[in-house]
Amino acid sequence: SDQSAFETDVWTLTRFVIETGRQAKGATGELTQLINAMLTAIKAISSAVRKAGLAHLHGLAGAVNVTGDDVKKLDVLSNDLVINMLQASYSTCCMVSEENKELIVTPKEKRGKYVVCFDPLDGSSNIDCLASIGTIFAIYKRDAAVVFPCCDVQISEGEPTDKDALQQGNNIVCAGYALYGSATLVALSTGAGVNFFTLDPAVGEFILTERSVKIKPKGKIYSLNEGYAKYFHPSINEYLKHKKYPEDGSSPYGARYVGSMVSDIHRTIAYGGIFMYPANEKSPKGKLRLLYECNPIAFIIEQAGGLATSGTQRILDVQPESLHQRVPFVVGSPDDVNEYLSFVKKFS
Ligand code: AHM
Ligand code: MG
Repeated sequence: SDQSAFETDVWTLTRFVIETGRQAKGATGELTQLINAMLTAIKAISSAVRKAGLAHLHGLAGAVNVTGDDVKKLDVLSNDLVINMLQASYSTCCMVSEENKELIVTPKEKRGKYVVCFDPLDGSSNIDCLASIGTIFAIYKRDAAVVFPCCDVQISEGEPTDKDALQQGNNIVCAGYALYGSATLVALSTGAGVNFFTLDPAVGEFILTERSVKIKPKGKIYSLNEGYAKYFHPSINEYLKHKKYPEDGSSPYGARYVGSMVSDIHRTIAYGGIFMYPANEKSPKGKLRLLYECNPIAFIIEQAGGLATSGTQRILDVQPESLHQRVPFVVGSPDDVNEYLSFVKKFS
């Protein structure tokens, strides 16, 4: 027919989430609602990032907006979008956002059983130069406070507190990131591997473009802000020297660093290699935040067959103590991360 190249039975992300939800036993559809709300927020952020509706964002010449006074900055707008969409899905009890110092507690009448930790727009230094940026999120069940063994029902009572969000990454139910790159892409895992979905702007849906993504055992790229070398621990500098001047006859690694974690991580998953934001003298715990930057990425990387470590501990095993705590972060292809760990060992 004249339309034969038009796919009529596409796996959209919405379809994928519904299907996965239906297969889970005892599922109520609440997680499906939550993920769909997150995807709606991501689509809206993507549109704003790409400056769709420029006139609307900046105001037409002479209109009220020229001072920028009532134009929300992209990161604030993204944060508002995620909070509002998630609360409207009736599936959250509280959230942690990079943009909010305190725990965000869902109004009582809209509460559900999930806790979401997110960075609405990561890579803030890249916003104004139009380089790639991203959204990161992790979903947990609220810690069950009261358990009724008789009927196997768990009910969390009382007002949500920080403790509900201070869970190990091991407890993640679902995590993902959105990359606003040359295309908008979502990587998602509910603990059964990682899938990539690419936004088809014509349809307004994410289409499944890569199933069961696996990271290479070893890559050829290292990625970090080497400008801090003066302040790194000798183990890091020795490792980097080995990447640049290998003495075993192997080729030196290539260097790539966007400075937007989602972008650097997505490349690491797609091509293999290692990404690091280690501790340094000026930032003894590095820069990246455990709850909404490192944990969701560590979950995705492990689900793709990679490793994520702080240098001394598997990231998902770290017991969080505060909402915005930082942690040194080294992730990527298993052989590369293990090689880095062998340098840590040599120096300890
Ligand atoms: P942000 O949350 O303020 O955007 O900071 C996080 C970002 C990450 O995306 C990136 O990996 C890192 O900061 C880059 O930091 P640096 O400029 O120190 O290399
Ligand atoms: Mg961030």
